[in-house]
Amino acid sequence: MAAAGVLLFVAVSLACLSVSGNLVSGERSFSIDYKHNCFLKDGKPFQYISGSIHYSRIPRYYWRDRLVKMYMTGLNAIQVYVPWNFHEAVQGVHNFTGDRDLEHFLDLANQTGLLVILRPGPYICAEWEMGGLPAWLLQKPNIILRSADTDYAQAVSNWLAVLLPKMKPWLYINGGNIISVQVENEYGSYYACDYNYMRHLRTLFRFFLGEDTVLFTTDGNTDKEMTCGTLEGLYATVDFGTDTNVTEAFSRQRRFEPRGPLVNSEFYTGWLDHWGDQHAVVDAQKVSRVLGEMLTMGANVNMYMFEGGTNFGYWNGADHDTRFRSVVTSYDYDAPLSEAGDPTEKLLAIRDVIKQFRDIPSGPMPPATPKFAYGFVTLRKVGNVSSLLNTLSPLGPVKSQHPLTFEEMKQYYGYMLYRTTLPRDLSEPTPLISPLNGVHDRAYVSVNGVFRGLLERDTALVMNITGQQGDTVDILVENMGRVNFGSKINDYKGLLSNLILGKDVLTDWKIYPLDIDGAIAARWPHSDSRKYFPTPQKEPLPGPAIYMGTLQPNGLAWDTFLKLYEWTKGQVWINGVNLGRYWPARGPQQTLYIPGPLLSTSLPNNITVLELEGAPAHLRVLFMDRPQLSVPVQ
Ligand SMILES: *[C@@H]1O[C@H](CO)[C@@H](O)[C@H](O)[C@H]1NC(C)=O
Ligand SMILES: *[C@@H]1O[C@H](CO)[C@@H](O)[C@H](O)[C@H]1NC(C)=O
Ligand SMILES: *[C@@H]1O[C@H](CO)[C@@H](O)[C@H](O)[C@H]1NC(C)=O
Ligand SMILES: *[C@@H]1O[C@H](CO)[C@@H](O)[C@H](O)[C@H]1NC(C)=O
Ligand SMILES: *[C@@H]1O[C@H](CO)[C@@H](O)[C@H](O)[C@H]1NC(C)=O
Ligand SMILES: *[C@@H]1O[C@H](CO)[C@@H](O)[C@H](O)[C@H]1NC(C)=O
Repeated sequence: MAAAGVLLFVAVSLACLSVSGNLVSGERSFSIDYKHNCFLKDGKPFQYISGSIHYSRIPRYYWRDRLVKMYMTGLNAIQVYVPWNFHEAVQGVHNFTGDRDLEHFLDLANQTGLLVILRPGPYICAEWEMGGLPAWLLQKPNIILRSADTDYAQAVSNWLAVLLPKMKPWLYINGGNIISVQVENEYGSYYACDYNYMRHLRTLFRFFLGEDTVLFTTDGNTDKEMTCGTLEGLYATVDFGTDTNVTEAFSRQRRFEPRGPLVNSEFYTGWLDHWGDQHAVVDAQKVSRVLGEMLTMGANVNMYMFEGGTNFGYWNGADHDTRFRSVVTSYDYDAPLSEAGDPTEKLLAIRDVIKQFRDIPSGPMPPATPKFAYGFVTLRKVGNVSSLLNTLSPLGPVKSQHPLTFEEMKQYYGYMLYRTTLPRDLSEPTPLISPLNGVHDRAYVSVNGVFRGLLERDTALVMNITGQQGDTVDILVENMGRVNFGSKINDYKGLLSNLILGKDVLTDWKIYPLDIDGAIAARWPHSDSRKYFPTPQKEPLPGPAIYMGTLQPNGLAWDTFLKLYEWTKGQVWINGVNLGRYWPARGPQQTLYIPGPLLSTSLPNNITVLELEGAPAHLRVLFMDRPQLSVPVQ
């Protein structure tokens, strides 16, 4: 069976390369030629060599730079995910401006000479928070995401009724650069396998984009995935990396699409990292060899990723197979363009392969952006989170007998503080237990302001505390990013179930939503304020606290990398922009990427750090001129 498929597709792909199209001149069209097994663009056979780039992971200022570098590598297309939650963080409120200006991004790609393969989801995976789905969907407690569930389907209809009409003028056939549009994403690897949902999506995409748009699906390279992920009228494509046998993978696509172009929608140039993993690398020689193999067959290839970028703020996703593992801040991905957009050896190797198949643009590859090592900056402590609640939680607490989730509190991202009191004297160490593993995802526990330790989802469900009846118990809970793949994407955050202390269920909570980003955006804490506390020399485990410092301007606004050497775990902002999470204690990522345009050349640059566990004795951070993503995990 497989061998027969192999012979079939080798014959047909050669046919595609030698076809001479009947071009109606001047007419813009993009379609599938089932007779000759290829795409047709304006009536002529067309093969795309594409790369994935996520505008949501790159500051707008750098979009053009990255696109030009992709064009100069010889790509003729880019592949773009649209993260729904990035554009509709609050239900019914849409944002398409600034870093979220998708149409500006499409325009820059068009100006650069790049076609676009659009992947509007609604689910995208992408190692992005909740796979791109907005967390407000979880307000319906038993919602079945990615199914024909009426509330989910209605929310999807509402969103696509906003997004797809915006995209319609950008379709190639309408004068834009979008040649094809993916429906859902690797749906076959989701347990629901709900054809009514896929039919609903097909109806919406057809309604808003017309009958003539090439719609396709992408699935992992197994029969089960291809069976649940494909639907008549949506062209079935596959995805696979360098360790897969190309011939066998395309034979599988052929079983589901006996005719039409061969397409690998995600050819993995690298891979993602989770906290606690080794840094993933994929060999450049392997990438170029397999790329060459696919292009020789006449296949259309999208390289995932070509430029990965950064999970700024709270946008990283997480996986949950045997246990919860959240994705690191960097999405460098060991891709041909680095996280900071610099051409790598892998890019040059790929360009050499592409040269054998098409003319690549003449002229030099734009260089790496300049980097600068601004050096050490000393920070000072602003205060413990528990003592800053007036500033960090301006709305004050909600009282509840039992803990409420982030979703119930309508604070979807970041941190919340749960406060209660000790119900009795505990002179002996007494276990504080999360019996149902309901801490999502990390809880930092203090008694009367003194940090006592932490609970962690799936790994640390019990700790000891002591104290006296009436002592204040503060539990800062961190949302480390919602699961983006698999059956556990209904990933509620906060304290999902009661905590037990000895024999008592803890009750009567005050729950403080924390708007740390809002406070920092309002220019808190003020760098010139004298109202800060000198840091005690011996504060071995201070617990959750805020620190700040200023990087004096030196006339440069070059890219740099921030190393939180000997800090433990937390979140950093510079000039009000949330750079993401750091966790050098767990690794592998050791530095955070700071795009130069975030820095001021003339004003003091304000650095704010939320350290959750323990700051180093010497309160300082280091700005370096190169990243460290691969420090070995102990
Ligand atoms: C929309 O997003 C942009 C870019 O991230 C941001 O600057 C702006 O404040 C947002 N607008 C609103 C109304 O939230
Ligand atoms: C895309 O670029 C082409 C060629 O530069 C131009 O003619 C066309 O108007 C552009 N399309 C859009 C939608 O801007
Ligand atoms: C890939 O699979 C085909 C068919 O099963 C086999 O003939 C070929 O040797 C394999 N290629 C590699 C590189 O393993
Ligand atoms: C913060 O908490 C530590 C104990 O963890 C305590 O020593 C220190 O005084 C507190 N600082 C403030 C400003 O409350
Ligand atoms: C809690 O304290 C008890 C008694 O001191 C000890 O045996 C136990 O190991 C401690 N548990 C943890 C999780 O620290
Ligand atoms: C940093 O904060 C100070 C005051 O707190 C302010 O004067 C300065 O403009 C801020 N720097 C930037 C780059 O916004």
